[in-house]
Amino acid sequence: MNYENILSEHKDGICYLTINRSKQLNALNGATILELSNAIKSAEKDKLVRCIILTGAETKAFVAGADIKEFASFTISEGEKLARKGQELLFDLLENISTPSIAAINGFALGGGLELAMSCHIRIASDNAKMGLPEVSLGVIPGYGGTQRLANLVGKGKAMEMITTAGMLTASEAQKWGLVNHVCSQTELIPLAEKIAEKIKRNSPMAIGKAIKTVNAGFIDGVDGFEVEKKEFGNCFGTPEFIEGTTAFMEKRKANF
Ligand code: CAA
Repeated sequence: MNYENILSEHKDGICYLTINRSKQLNALNGATILELSNAIKSAEKDKLVRCIILTGAETKAFVAGADIKEFASFTISEGEKLARKGQELLFDLLENISTPSIAAINGFALGGGLELAMSCHIRIASDNAKMGLPEVSLGVIPGYGGTQRLANLVGKGKAMEMITTAGMLTASEAQKWGLVNHVCSQTELIPLAEKIAEKIKRNSPMAIGKAIKTVNAGFIDGVDGFEVEKKEFGNCFGTPEFIEGTTAFMEKRKANF
């Protein structure tokens, strides 16, 4: 499929999605959100894709936020619709798909950019990356899930500080706070993401999909994550991938998923 605001490439079981609006520091306008949504849906459908790597074009930004120029004149209802539609189309979708995703944060990840990275299952950053939710400096609050996902990832106290100060964390601070798992140089960033993807590719896509669903279940109000775990654990039994995984173990060979 041809996209105007993103690049999409599938290679060796990995779908590389690059937000490609570098003149606007890869800011997320409506068209980009829709293209990312479509690309993610088609990656999830493609059984050859075992992992998604999401990054920003060029070296300055992952994504510098939602496109401020696009929403600056919105009304109250248009503002709510922007948040609602964006969350449904992209941020919730990405968090809940069965294909694991890695955000390779290669520069500024601000506002909607950090919110996009936080919707990915794994985050790594290059040492020049800067991360924050600066929305209150614009007279608005994070609207693409940032108030919830940041508190889940770093804890309520640290999230409150980041959001109310509108400050930015360096990559190493973000790692100390648990916001990113690994930090490396810019040139090592995609190779590191690929190394993680290679490990993911050895494992059962069926089981990975159920594991993502179950971990996420624990963060849904009113859902008992332990109950979901018991059900999904059981649902793995008898599937071809369970049979292959356990048979391979007993035959002392690597499983072929
Ligand atoms: N939206 C639209 N355009 C943006 C943008 C954004 N979020 N961030 C940067 N740009 C544009 C700039 O307007 C500029 O375009 P022009 O050349 O046409 O003027 C271009 O990208 C380069 O940016 P700067 O000249 O500002 O670059 P800089 O190096 O001086 O500063 C920066 C870099 C600190 C990241 C700065 O661009 C910045 O503060 N950006 C905005 C960050 C922000 O507030 N993000 C939150 C957005 S709101 C949000 O995301 C809401 C939500 O949760 C849904």
